[in-house]
Amino acid sequence: MRAHPAGPRHGEIPVDHTSVVPVDLNDLDPVVWPRGARRTTGAMTLAGNDVRDLAAQYGTPLLAMDEQDFRSRCQDFADAFGAAGDVHYAAKAFLSTHIVNWLAQEGLALDVCSAGELALALRADFPPAKIALHGSNKSQAELEMAVDAGIGAIVVDSYDEIARLAGIAERLHLESGGGNGSARRIPVMIRITVGVEAHTHEFIATAHEDQKFGFSLAGGDAAEGVRRIVACSGLELIGLHSHIGSQIFDPSGFEVSAHRLVGLLKTIIKTHPDLAASITTLDLGGGLGIAYTSTDTPPPVDAMAKSLTEIVERECQAAGLAVPRIAVEPGRAIVGPGTVTLYEVGTIKDVHLDGGVVRKYVSIDGGMSDNIRTALYDADYTAVLASRSSDAPAARCRVVGKHCESGDIVVRDCYLPADIAVGDLIAVAATGAYCYSMASNYNRLPRPPLVAVIDGTSRQLLRRETDDDLMRLETW
Ligand code: LLP
Repeated sequence: MRAHPAGPRHGEIPVDHTSVVPVDLNDLDPVVWPRGARRTTGAMTLAGNDVRDLAAQYGTPLLAMDEQDFRSRCQDFADAFGAAGDVHYAAKAFLSTHIVNWLAQEGLALDVCSAGELALALRADFPPAKIALHGSNKSQAELEMAVDAGIGAIVVDSYDEIARLAGIAERLHLESGGGNGSARRIPVMIRITVGVEAHTHEFIATAHEDQKFGFSLAGGDAAEGVRRIVACSGLELIGLHSHIGSQIFDPSGFEVSAHRLVGLLKTIIKTHPDLAASITTLDLGGGLGIAYTSTDTPPPVDAMAKSLTEIVERECQAAGLAVPRIAVEPGRAIVGPGTVTLYEVGTIKDVHLDGGVVRKYVSIDGGMSDNIRTALYDADYTAVLASRSSDAPAARCRVVGKHCESGDIVVRDCYLPADIAVGDLIAVAATGAYCYSMASNYNRLPRPPLVAVIDGTSRQLLRRETDDDLMRLETW
């Protein structure tokens, strides 16, 4: 069965989106909701903030991020991988200057994949040596910017990029006076297509992958890429990288990937023994999954870290190699679970389906512009009535947005109290990753604000877009 790394693709996999009727509709399953989410009776609170107060102060839709949840997940990763590992937060999941600061305070490294993400990190004074640059088509300008900033690694993805970097290395050489060994070398990793595609419960190992990233191991490009990097004295190969997918629950895909990377490392060191000292890192990429619904069962971070570390150690031992540092690049698993999106209910419609089934269409004041994941990946989400508790029976609901298309669905199937009413607030769980970062102004809706909540206080990390923001590109 083929699957998109981020979820099943439309039309390819018949996914059953029918959700389970919760035992208690007021319950907040700790697997799904932020660590600081509570409800005894009445409204939900987030890190001691009543969601009704947040909505009154900042308006809806509103993304509310539990700061302590984010920080504690950074710590979980740092503790789980320990001193022998490097944890790089993947900026693409969500980035703002405050997030950059939190990451620096928590001691994590940072992966960026564009000049925009890099510029934000540098502007927020993140230590350049702890930044790695990814991307399948880095421009000359992006590479120059990264080299000039002195970032810790550029993860090369194509022969063209090696050539561009070789040109930049030549410039550094000339600027340093052209003497032997006087210019600093550009630290690079090479992204290897290991022939593994993983998704949640399954992974596929193939000889070849029909996709754009990396240097194919099976096709011989990986060996040739290494040869070209090594041939350029201005480049220093410091690691091998692979990223096998996203929302992964099962370590066996990483096992195949690590096995293949270690095999390549062995071949490289056999040909170039001097590289044993410089290739210090095996980067297994990101992809650790999270629970979007109560039926999702991602492994705890420490269990995943233990598996990955054991796999690399075992593979290195078998290959007779010293164990390198293990790097990972979690995005979703750090920022995803601690954020909820609060929406106000605007209209409610009972739609009669075949077999006498009624589906309540609950329309909220956002939609696919602030969460495209349901429409794009067929992703599942969980929603609750957040502004009050209710003893009403469960009603089968679909939470839909205010955009002009029928695919504008945020939660495809969920149960909410049957007395759900216009003006109620509902909360959608686990919206911290790839919702704001993939948000748009479709139908000219402003992007919502994002607030951080901690210890009974809240502050805006990003304000709501204004009418002027929406007009700012017009040339009149
Ligand atoms: N490292 C690399 C090289 C990546 O390409 C990615 C994600 C990550 C790390 C972080 O993966 P994570 O730990 O967050 O799964 N928009 C999709 C996800 C696309 C992921 C792309 N690469 C979604 O909304 O599910």
